[in-house]
Amino acid sequence: MGERLAVVSGGGTGIGAAVAETLAADGYDVLIVGRRADVLLVAAERISAACGRPEAVSAVTADLTDPAQLAGVVEAVGERTVDVVVNNAGGYLGGDTATLAGVAAQWRANLDANVLTAVLLTEALLPALRRPGGRVILLSSIAAQRGGGGPYSAAKAALHGWAYDLAAQLGPEQITVNVVSPGYVAETEFFGDRMTPEGHAKRVDATLVKRAGLPDDIAEAIRYLAGPAAGYVTGQVLGVNGGSVLGR
Ligand SMILES: NC(=O)c1ccc[n+]([C@@H]2O[C@H](COP(=O)([O-])OP(=O)(O)OC[C@H]3O[C@@H](n4cnc5c(N)ncnc54)[C@H](OP(=O)(O)O)[C@@H]3O)[C@@H](O)[C@H]2O)c1
Repeated sequence: MGERLAVVSGGGTGIGAAVAETLAADGYDVLIVGRRADVLLVAAERISAACGRPEAVSAVTADLTDPAQLAGVVEAVGERTVDVVVNNAGGYLGGDTATLAGVAAQWRANLDANVLTAVLLTEALLPALRRPGGRVILLSSIAAQRGGGGPYSAAKAALHGWAYDLAAQLGPEQITVNVVSPGYVAETEFFGDRMTPEGHAKRVDATLVKRAGLPDDIAEAIRYLAGPAAGYVTGQVLGVNGGSVLGR
């Protein structure tokens, strides 16, 4: 068992899996959380093998929108101290918005998936966070800063306001709270079958560096915020977007 523990929601795929791999390579034990047990298991085995520590990554299955399912995460953490919580689970949820009931359902689904997942996981792990030195990291999106995602944009933007309050609450205990806001990141499950070659090209063109982001680009920002070098950085929104949104 390592000395440091990180909990990464959505750690079975995409950005979350890259974060788990990066932190595991840095010596953290990593607990990955998601709804699909099979996906988590494959990721945990792959990442543990890659970092050469067979027990480095463990998995717990939970739908983080359901308060009752947080008990399993708390149980998996047990008596350990949590150094880093990476609230990465989320995504854009579409829906039939022809009726007001449909509009309400889509908004609730996006708020649940992107806000409640982070709030419930963080609240559940607050007592276990390392004091001093704990880290809470929230995954937002460029959509929070420049729109483009309707209820998804609004849900991600809600994380920013909450992060500022949480940073103020936890600051005196030397726990930092920061938001990482990715731009377009390819090679994840985020877009599913919604991505087209034209959509990809448009997003690449909107960057200043003329390439798509990769999960590792986001993981490196999280590695910095998770580490001791970032102890004086709190209540911030760090854009990792290739320059497609400037300085916000
Ligand atoms: N890719 C991009 O361009 C992009 C850009 C900006 C922001 N982001 C944000 O980055 C984060 C990671 O996205 P990604 O691109 O890596 O996409 P992804 O591969 O779809 O990852 C999302 C992860 O969240 C998990 N998840 C979703 N709902 C959950 C729930 N209710 N409970 C527990 N786990 C849940 C999913 O696993 P299960 O389905 O197994 O639960 C999945 O592993 C998301 O918050 C996303 O909004 C992505």
